[in-house]
Amino acid sequence: MYDNTRRPGAATCAAARGTGYAGGVNASVVFNPFVPSYRRNPYLQLDRLRAADPVHRSDVLQSWILTRYEDVLRVTRDHQTFSSDARVATGQLAAALSEQRSNSPLGDTRSLLASDPPEHTFLRGIVNRAFTPRSVEQLRPRMEQIAESLLDEAPDDGEWDLVEGLAQPLPVIVIAELLGIPPEDRARFKTWSAHIALTTDIMQSEDTLETIRGAMDELVEYFEGFIADRRAHPREDLISALVLAENEGRRLTGPEVVAFATLLLVAGNETTTNLIGSGMRALLAHPEAMAALRAAPERIPAAIEEMLRYDGPVQGIVRIATARTTIGDRQIEAGEVVMGMTGAANRDPAQFPDPATFDIDRADTRHLAFGQGIHYCVGAPLARIEAAIAFRMLLDRWPTIEAAGDAEIGGTFLIRGPVRLPLAIRR
Ligand code: HEM
Repeated sequence: MYDNTRRPGAATCAAARGTGYAGGVNASVVFNPFVPSYRRNPYLQLDRLRAADPVHRSDVLQSWILTRYEDVLRVTRDHQTFSSDARVATGQLAAALSEQRSNSPLGDTRSLLASDPPEHTFLRGIVNRAFTPRSVEQLRPRMEQIAESLLDEAPDDGEWDLVEGLAQPLPVIVIAELLGIPPEDRARFKTWSAHIALTTDIMQSEDTLETIRGAMDELVEYFEGFIADRRAHPREDLISALVLAENEGRRLTGPEVVAFATLLLVAGNETTTNLIGSGMRALLAHPEAMAALRAAPERIPAAIEEMLRYDGPVQGIVRIATARTTIGDRQIEAGEVVMGMTGAANRDPAQFPDPATFDIDRADTRHLAFGQGIHYCVGAPLARIEAAIAFRMLLDRWPTIEAAGDAEIGGTFLIRGPVRLPLAIRR
């Protein structure tokens, strides 16, 4: 997904560069995520695909594209058949990954997201010790302070960009504080985070690859110094906890701590930014829902679950088949890439009645926006708290919030959300 150590995009799209066409086994179905309209609304194509060819072989992505809820759920739960470790891939992907690894400053070090058991079990054990729901809940007052001070910069009345003003800085500052990064280093942190998040793009130019590599090199160097300092002088922060935590009698190595810190940086920032941005877009399009939340703010957590289902920040998860298997009536070979489109699964009418309707009272909230199974999002409690704080404060401060122009949608094939969302706000 959003991991520098597993980059299906760069690897799988070489064949597609310049073609612009995504044909498949079922020749009548065209799936083309490269057209500009896909960014504005991927669900039109994904809905069509689910109806016509739910287990779709995409030549251009050199992957299987799954759009049914039950198939995506199965892939996330069956980690034996569907690996998160790209080293088991075959063909072009394997070759590209091996080249990438030899260039990576982290070498062969696996991150949590890109590993399978038993390695994943060990890493997750450490993380679960250091990153508990309780430790996250303890941060709530500090998160509220950060959000307050960001909102203090917004005008009482006027135009204001939600992304620039709140959705982007809030998660960056929270993660930086959680890790123990000093305030003076935050600006660099934000830039690295944005650059490394480009790894989820399915089409990467040489310039983009260069930008990503540059950011990775700088970040790794920064973290190495930082981690050495915390080893010698532990403090009350997540990096110290990661350095000290033990599981099965073993501690994380230096590169493993760096890999995890990098993962948090990318995983925790763009995604939470997108949740706040896309969530607000949904409320702007559904004023009755916004009014209901103003009248009863205790309904905000349920509304956030619906935001995650309706237009989630992470659109898909990536796995590699470890053995020949079937999904639906299609045969998948060992080493082939499978993309479980969580965004499409969350709009599967077989699971969610009337799925294109934004309904904050929806009874079934079993969306797949945070994944499922052993890789279920570590940061889900944190993201939920941040989003709840953001929406509560926004609605509380400004009795009028309206769109002030079009949102600009950014992100990549697998991560989606507004990069600019101008609002007209009035007290
Ligand atoms: C709304 C915000 C977020 C969304 C939608 C989201 C989504 C996801 C998804 C779908 C996965 C599963 C990936 C897979 O199965 O391949 C995942 C894993 C992960 N997420 Fe998040 N995430 C969010 C916020 C965060 C935050 C705030 C953090 C940390 C501060 C975080 C850290 C992680 C980590 C470390 C993993 C890997 C877990 C593992 O492999 O065991 N995420 N996330």
